[in-house]
Amino acid sequence: MADSTGKNVCVTGAGGFVASWLVKLLLSKGYTVHGTVRQPGSQKYEHLLKLEKASENLKLFKADLLNYESIHSAIVGCSAVFHVACPVPETVVPNPEVEVIEPAVKGTLNVLEACLEAKVERVVFVSSVAAIIMNQNLPKDKVIDESYWTDKDFCRRTQNWYCFSKTEAEDQAMNFAKRTGLDVVTICPSLVLGPLLQSTTVNASSLILPKLLKGCDTVEDKTRWIVDVRDVVDAILLAYEKPEAQGRYQCNSHTLKTRDLVEKLKSIYPNYKYPAKFTEVDDYKRLSSEKLQMLGWKHRPLDETLIDSVESYKDAGLLQSE
Ligand SMILES: NC(=O)c1ccc[n+]([C@@H]2O[C@H](COP(=O)([O-])OP(=O)(O)OC[C@H]3O[C@@H](n4cnc5c(N)ncnc54)[C@H](OP(=O)(O)O)[C@@H]3O)[C@@H](O)[C@H]2O)c1
Repeated sequence: MADSTGKNVCVTGAGGFVASWLVKLLLSKGYTVHGTVRQPGSQKYEHLLKLEKASENLKLFKADLLNYESIHSAIVGCSAVFHVACPVPETVVPNPEVEVIEPAVKGTLNVLEACLEAKVERVVFVSSVAAIIMNQNLPKDKVIDESYWTDKDFCRRTQNWYCFSKTEAEDQAMNFAKRTGLDVVTICPSLVLGPLLQSTTVNASSLILPKLLKGCDTVEDKTRWIVDVRDVVDAILLAYEKPEAQGRYQCNSHTLKTRDLVEKLKSIYPNYKYPAKFTEVDDYKRLSSEKLQMLGWKHRPLDETLIDSVESYKDAGLLQSE
């Protein structure tokens, strides 16, 4: 799978935060990219058209995950499909079944069905650590790897519909692969930070640091598992290009409590406001990305991710200058 020149590949939800970086990487490697978007012509995809080689090698297709024909049209003729699109709500939504679960689960099955019909070589599905770690029975004394799964009943009880939808979608994707023989590899990133490529939309994970930097009275001292968007797209490409890749890959670089994250940010940007107090949360887990490292994955230092994120948020008007 190493020769990329002229190979057609499809990226679903091409205008999103992670997908935009993936499109950029694929174009730079010589792939021809079929990107799916829901509203072609919208300003929110302009950054894609400005990417190097986009004018020759990027083709945008209007497609909704719940419309099989539209997805199939984008996938036909592609060797690989990178299924990145998924609703990632920033807050609680009124109708999670329709707004979150159905596009995530049925949408993924539509993509896989279209891949099977189009004889795609490999599908890389972007899942999440949300499909691994949301489980009260995880052993506290062990490093958590890809063998663990989120407890869907726990997600239902706590109405954590995003975690439920990612877990159900990945579970069904794995079963689909077993049943049909389609080659499906999944990447499970933790909280994805890093510079924004898109200029008119802001995805949910890019709102987390600005909230801390704007200050507030009290914040929960949750554990933050962080990975840089540029490292995530490297992992996604490795999962396609390395023939030996199989199954799930947890993709996390840094683990720290929110209080320590705030201290780190303060040491770089001393003049923002920051939260005044922290309430204790007992949620610390160590996550392993060893399986991904065995494929050759490397990641950036945290300082680089934080600085590049904050500078990008300033440019995007999400933060005042210090
Ligand atoms: N960011 C994180 O911290 C993080 C962590 C772990 C996993 N992930 C996973 O990474 C992926 C990308 O996340 P992101 O942060 O880049 O999110 P994002 O910027 O919000 O992008 C999500 C994309 O999904 C598309 N989409 C949503 N519903 C759709 C539908 N019904 N049909 C077609 N497209 C649809 C949107 O397309 P339009 O442009 O057409 O609206 C958008 O481009 C998701 O699968 C997410 O679960 C993200």
